[in-house]
Amino acid sequence: MKLFIDSANIPQIKKFLDIGVLDGVTTNPTLLAKEGVDPAEQVEKILKLVPGPVSVEVLSTDYEGIVGEARRIAEMGENVVVKAPMTQDGLRAVRKLSRENIKTNVTLVFSPNQGLLAAKAGATYVSPFIGRLDDVGYDGMRVIKDLVEIFRNYSMASQILVSSVRHPVHVLRAAKLGAHVATLPPDVLDKMFNHPLTDVGLKRFTADWQELEKHLGRKLTPYRSMP
Ligand code: E4P
Repeated sequence: MKLFIDSANIPQIKKFLDIGVLDGVTTNPTLLAKEGVDPAEQVEKILKLVPGPVSVEVLSTDYEGIVGEARRIAEMGENVVVKAPMTQDGLRAVRKLSRENIKTNVTLVFSPNQGLLAAKAGATYVSPFIGRLDDVGYDGMRVIKDLVEIFRNYSMASQILVSSVRHPVHVLRAAKLGAHVATLPPDVLDKMFNHPLTDVGLKRFTADWQELEKHLGRKLTPYRSMP
């Protein structure tokens, strides 16, 4: 499963790129607004920094506007993916853009039928927002389960990009269902590294090593002297 980070913050993106767990980035107008800087300049920096796909959302909502904006966004970098809304104009634009070999991400998907339509329009990625569904009392993960089944039934080329992820259990369930990608807020990514038994185990190993040093009466440089 590919993991993207859902962020427009350079230090956050850089941190997880350096660890080596990131396959790409998703941004949206809210995330870019949070940075409080010129969004085009910020997007350019992210595109340069990240070797994988970076989703950048259009602000237009009409067909002509989306296509025009998408073409300009597509020129910003080879790794750019244009995010378009799950509307009739949005999907018409996605169809047009996919014929021009511009990669697309259909955003604000909340039902399996919307996802099916987005895939039929030729979307590279289809983004169901599971956390926002959970927030209003629906089972967001159900949409992922249905879409995995539908895309498999018809060998659809679109990738399911699990979005609006709120906690590590969302990631686990999405991975078990076979979703292609999940885009994670930095705090969820951070949490995935942690387990209390890892911390306890690490403390124990360090303490035992220090005990040995005390017993031998000298500092040990682990294994450097081994043949
Ligand atoms: C996906 O591409 C969106 O940016 C994102 O996952 C939205 O999530 P939210 O519900 O946390 O805003």
